[in-house]
Amino acid sequence: MPSPIRAFVFDAYGTLYDVHSLVSLAEELAPHQGVLLSQVWRAKQLEYTWLSALMATPAHPRDDFATLTARALDYAIAKLMIPLREHDRERLFAAYRMLAPYPDAAETLSRLAPRKRVILSNGTPEMLKPLVAQSPLEPHVDDILSVDAADAYKPAPAVYQLAVDRLGLAREEIAFVSANGWDAAGAKVFGFTTFWINRQGLPIERHAPDPDFIVGTLGHIPAIVSV
Ligand code: LAC
Repeated sequence: MPSPIRAFVFDAYGTLYDVHSLVSLAEELAPHQGVLLSQVWRAKQLEYTWLSALMATPAHPRDDFATLTARALDYAIAKLMIPLREHDRERLFAAYRMLAPYPDAAETLSRLAPRKRVILSNGTPEMLKPLVAQSPLEPHVDDILSVDAADAYKPAPAVYQLAVDRLGLAREEIAFVSANGWDAAGAKVFGFTTFWINRQGLPIERHAPDPDFIVGTLGHIPAIVSV
């Protein structure tokens, strides 16, 4: 018999919160390029996390996610040659603290109680706390963990260990939920029971073991874990 799931750990950006919910603002500021701006920004942001962690030395430590998010935005603006005033760039960056949750996120979190529901994210505490506080997910989130406590980025095992240490449970008793396939893969290698939220019907990642469950939306999780 597999171990019962006793707690849930959620990725934040892309899983509970839609990083592309700022497309309407991006489209307003950069007509016809909002979708592309958002996509290049997100892809570069993640690339920078991996590069920053790989390159880190005591003399040149890892940059935090807020810094990398700002630099990735600058890259995206430059790549797409968008003439953006500094004030509008600030508006886009500020939108990262106001991202919308996915429509089924609050209800799913609520249905998973009384098991603990924790966020484990690349975000800094200064990014994550206001993001959660301004959203309807706030009453359903028991704890927020930032990679900063491990001075690493996902998918480093030291990051996933933060959730084990906080929850005091065996790895397989923790369900890790991410819509980022590479994050679900890292969590599976670490030993969590993993859910990949594959909203776009993407092919499965090939560099790691398959996740335990692949579902199209967050809303499918409660029925699976109640079995
Ligand atoms: C996070 C990134 C992976 O929230 O989206 O950790």
